[in-house]
Amino acid sequence: MGRFDNVAALAAPAAGAVAVDLGCGSGRSTRALLAAGAGTVHAVDAGSVLDDDLLLDPRVRAHISPLESLPLADGGADVAVSVNVLEHLDDDGVDAHLGEMHRVLRPGGVAVLTHSDWDTALFTAGDDSLTRELLDRFVAAPPQAGVRVDGFAGRKLLRHAARSAFRLEAVHSWADPHRRFDEGSVAWKVATGILAAVRDDTRLAARAAGWVEDLRSAAQAGEFLFAVTDVALVLRREPDGDEGR
Ligand SMILES: C[S@@+](CC[C@H](N)C(=O)[O-])C[C@H]1O[C@@H](n2cnc3c(N)ncnc32)[C@H](O)[C@@H]1O
Repeated sequence: MGRFDNVAALAAPAAGAVAVDLGCGSGRSTRALLAAGAGTVHAVDAGSVLDDDLLLDPRVRAHISPLESLPLADGGADVAVSVNVLEHLDDDGVDAHLGEMHRVLRPGGVAVLTHSDWDTALFTAGDDSLTRELLDRFVAAPPQAGVRVDGFAGRKLLRHAARSAFRLEAVHSWADPHRRFDEGSVAWKVATGILAAVRDDTRLAARAAGWVEDLRSAAQAGEFLFAVTDVALVLRREPDGDEGR
């Protein structure tokens, strides 16, 4: 199973359940939640980025909204997921995001909070020390202010959850293997972020371009591997009567 199936399995929507996918992007978790049995998925994102087939699916309700202020009623959802969203938010934004996630869940409802920890990214490349240097730049230097604020987000999920009203039920982690390095592949997307992180450093940018060519050759030879550790927390809104204990 890959990341999105893992997330849906942890959320475990009952047949016909109401689910919320927060920061849904193109809708990969939305799709997995539907496949896992959700009857309705509220897919929320700041932009209109949901895939067309999901926009046309009568089980999907698309909302363009900030995650810090959801256009959803209190307690109406059975499960909620947030995948790779926290790196976009500062601490106040994370608290508001988790607060809204808690508000829209029914008492007893489950939230799955997932994030990749980019510092654990693994690339098969010829020059290991260059890979390390590039990755250090990638996790430390936001390519655009406000777009990426934390390359270590996965390992910090517990810290964020501890400040929330949720009860922590379980912690999981996994690393999906990716062997492709062509345009559109996951590894390509991350490598693009690495190139952006070093573009103002002429010396390193030139070496990074060669590094990308090296990854391409490794993929053509069938020797390429990319993986990154994902961390997932299963959180529960306390059932009625248990709150405040
Ligand atoms: C890295 S993408 C992840 C998308 C999707 N969850 C996935 O894993 O494929 C992060 C998404 O969160 C959305 N996002 C980030 N901050 C947001 C905010 N404050 N309000 C609403 N959406 C936000 C972005 O627009 C983007 O689509």
